[in-house]
Amino acid sequence: MDGWDQLKSDWLARIGAAADETALEDLRVAALGKKGEISLKMRELGGMSAEDRQVAGPALNALKDEVTTALAAKKAALGDAALDARLRAEWLDVSLPARHRRMGTIHPVSQVTEEVTAIFADMGFAVAEGPQVETDWYNFDALNIPGHHPARAEMDTFYTHRAPGDDRPPHVLRTHTSPVQIRYMEAHGAPTRIIAPGRVYRADYDQTHTPMFHQVEGLAIDRDISMANLKWVLESFFSAYFGTNVRTRFRASHFPFTEPSAEVDIQCSWEGGTVKVGEGNDWLEVLGSGMVHPKVLQAAGVDPSQWQGFAFGMGIDRIAMLKYGIPDLRAFFDSDLRWLRHYGFSALQVPAVHSGV
Ligand code: PHE
Repeated sequence: MDGWDQLKSDWLARIGAAADETALEDLRVAALGKKGEISLKMRELGGMSAEDRQVAGPALNALKDEVTTALAAKKAALGDAALDARLRAEWLDVSLPARHRRMGTIHPVSQVTEEVTAIFADMGFAVAEGPQVETDWYNFDALNIPGHHPARAEMDTFYTHRAPGDDRPPHVLRTHTSPVQIRYMEAHGAPTRIIAPGRVYRADYDQTHTPMFHQVEGLAIDRDISMANLKWVLESFFSAYFGTNVRTRFRASHFPFTEPSAEVDIQCSWEGGTVKVGEGNDWLEVLGSGMVHPKVLQAAGVDPSQWQGFAFGMGIDRIAMLKYGIPDLRAFFDSDLRWLRHYGFSALQVPAVHSGV
């Protein structure tokens, strides 16, 4: 093997062994760069005798061509190998099942509020709302509950704070939805038919009481509305809501804002911690009701010699427990995801009258 062949096989071996593209570039500079071995040899040609140059010239050119070709081939091979490695490392299985995303649920209180609204809307009742922080006038006085009245003490009211020296009566967290009766009649007069669902507050806590709970108020005022209309409306409501005839019990009662007054219970059983409606010997009180007191109409600017009607206030959470067999009211407001998934509703279960949900 002469010197040229040796040089050639050295370079080809080194190029063949280059581990990556950086090493290959270093080799290119060492061979063909300005001060590369082959470039320097080319420069030496000028100082040779004509005979020597005739041998060395073609040999050097051939060497340069072969090294250039080998560099290009190796570069391509390294590039392919790098791409293969990436493809192997970044491989992913597009046939794997997707990661599960859980859908939220509609809270039973929201669902039942929608159900109640749908049923009363079908009977011609509009929906009204009022503030949860209420003046003592709307929550008490206008409803014929004066300052000394025992009903104020019985309500376990939450009072807001007043600055020292401010002697005005404090605002309250409304203890019932009845103030909406006053606000609505003040704004719209008579005749009227509304329900008013919303949050109410009382300092009370056990299996069937929470400090915040939900009521729906009903109010129907016209020239000749009677207690019989009240009974029909409530019984129609319960049979639509429970999807079956439910035994109800109207008990004579007393509220300052209605005269006469009745409390209404629903027949149920409590067995194994579960409540079932329409069977058993227990009764669960679900609402208070009566004929709106003339003083209440007057306080709201409606003439009691011209207009009369009924009102009721029903516990939304109570009737949700009854319909869906939920034993403990406190769990409604614990935000326990397991409870919410179990008792919650799909967003697609939109309530409608007689939809059976
Ligand atoms: N506001 C009463 C309560 O919360 C219920 C009620 C409303 C009673 C309307 C009669 C008429 O207990």
